[in-house]
Amino acid sequence: MNPKHKTALITGSAKRVGKTLALALAEDGCNIVVHYGRSAAAARETVREIEARGVSAWAFAADLSDEAAVAGIVPRALKLAGRLDILINSASIFPPEDFLSADPKTWDTAMMVNLKTPFLLSQAFARALPDGTPGKIINLLDVVAMRPQNHHFSYTISKTGLAGLTQAMAVALAARNVQVNGIALGAILPNVNDDPALFTRLAEKIPARRTGSPADVVQAMRYLLAADFVTGEIIRVDGGRHLV
Ligand SMILES: NC(=O)c1ccc[n+]([C@@H]2O[C@H](COP(=O)([O-])OP(=O)(O)OC[C@H]3O[C@@H](n4cnc5c(N)ncnc54)[C@H](OP(=O)(O)O)[C@@H]3O)[C@@H](O)[C@H]2O)c1
Repeated sequence: MNPKHKTALITGSAKRVGKTLALALAEDGCNIVVHYGRSAAAARETVREIEARGVSAWAFAADLSDEAAVAGIVPRALKLAGRLDILINSASIFPPEDFLSADPKTWDTAMMVNLKTPFLLSQAFARALPDGTPGKIINLLDVVAMRPQNHHFSYTISKTGLAGLTQAMAVALAARNVQVNGIALGAILPNVNDDPALFTRLAEKIPARRTGSPADVVQAMRYLLAADFVTGEIIRVDGGRHLV
């Protein structure tokens, strides 16, 4: 798919990785629906930066832990933009907990925001695509989903589920010319609550001896959008971290 003159809905795209993907797609001529949670001012700025690239942009908030709010996202995006060709599930929560400290409430919220919401949005997106119109879904995963560690427990399991969902949806939608793929990120940006020095030290554990950047994720996104015979694939963007 050539993203020019298409429209993409990107969850959690007011800031960070989602924003970088939005700006890159805007550079490729794609109109963008910016979904955000709490970052209203950042979302307005992202819309401004997208429009400066010569395409259209819209932004609205919806709480991804609230199923009723999630149900309104695709209809609202369609009303604003008129069409949707690409869905990128980027928003996520990252609660700090190990297996013994994980509690059922955190588990439920992580499963809702990180797994059930991508399912519901993908289903609504696919249902809304007119017959014969191609579509693309990209889910943002984490290399820990394929190589679990004993930290961020509910998050890890939600991303493992999202990897399974990616492949199951790829099978379900392949005949309709909708490709569903994932990008499993390694260390790209430090978590907002973490000590930045901790993030820098992570580089020692990465075969590439460096952390990545959102631009590395953009390369994978562009490949997956261009590749119409690739579906159910999960590209690791982690400098080889999953290998060691
Ligand atoms: N950054 C990395 O190094 C890294 C590593 C591995 C995997 N990943 C994955 O890559 C994706 C993007 O990473 P990131 O670091 O950019 O993500 P992030 O900053 O942790 O989260 C992105 C956005 O998700 C939105 N969000 C969270 N809970 C929400 C809710 N209940 N309702 C609405 N919005 C909600 C927030 O929007 P608001 O700010 O508007 O509230 C937030 O800005 C995520 O799926 C993440 O798991 C990232």
